Amino acid sequence: MPVPVPAATIRRAAPGDAAGLVELARTVAAEPGAWLLTDATWRSAADERRYLLAVRSSPDAAVFVAEAAGGELVGRLSVARDQHPSSPHVADLGVMVAASHRRQGVGCALMDAAACWAREVGISKLELHVFPHNLAAIALYERLGYEHEGLRRAHYVRAGELVDVVVMALLLGGSASAG
Ligand SMILES: CC(C)(COP(=O)(O)OP(=O)(O)OC[C@H]1O[C@@H](n2cnc3c(N)ncnc32)[C@H](O)[C@@H]1OP(=O)(O)O)[C@@H](O)C(=O)NCCC(=O)NCCS
Repeated sequence: MPVPVPAATIRRAAPGDAAGLVELARTVAAEPGAWLLTDATWRSAADERRYLLAVRSSPDAAVFVAEAAGGELVGRLSVARDQHPSSPHVADLGVMVAASHRRQGVGCALMDAAACWAREVGISKLELHVFPHNLAAIALYERLGYEHEGLRRAHYVRAGELVDVVVMALLLGGSASAG
């Protein structure tokens, strides 16, 4: 069910959102803050559409969008269950909000939607990676109860450089069933 916050409506993504989501991701990825793992390159709208079709009713992945009153997509959250057979209760997520719509509760609402979905499909731990310099994102995650689990040093390549990431996670409680 769509969840309203003042700035946007939160709902599951549909294949028709592909172009808007690609535009959002490319814009956020190109910000000088270098918040995302990817730089200004992102998958094509056609690939995005295929991905959205695949995850639409999957118990293993979900994409949520934040849609502003005019129909513009101003936020996105992707969450996917861990593929390892010993950790089907864990899912990894990534979130972004358009600069124009930050500090209005959109990020928080997307994270809440992910936590609801996770509980429904038997996921009891949500984890994420965040760059140490991304203080806004870390503040959001801490506010929602995510804990720092460690620092992965030189773990990713971004723009040709090895970069560190902080691992943060939230235990949702409940059983460790695969859902
Ligand atoms: C991180 C991000 C998703 C936060 O989204 P948002 O919609 O602005 O977050 P919210 O408005 O829901 O903020 C909820 C709370 O998080 C904290 N927070 C969010 N942004 C913050 C900031 N810039 N500075 C300090 N605290 C911040 C605050 O506690 C805030 O509550 P408040 O506004 O009542 O003080 C957004 O800044 C973003 O998309 N950044 C670029 C992409 C990115 O970094 N993605 C995460 C990669 S790991």
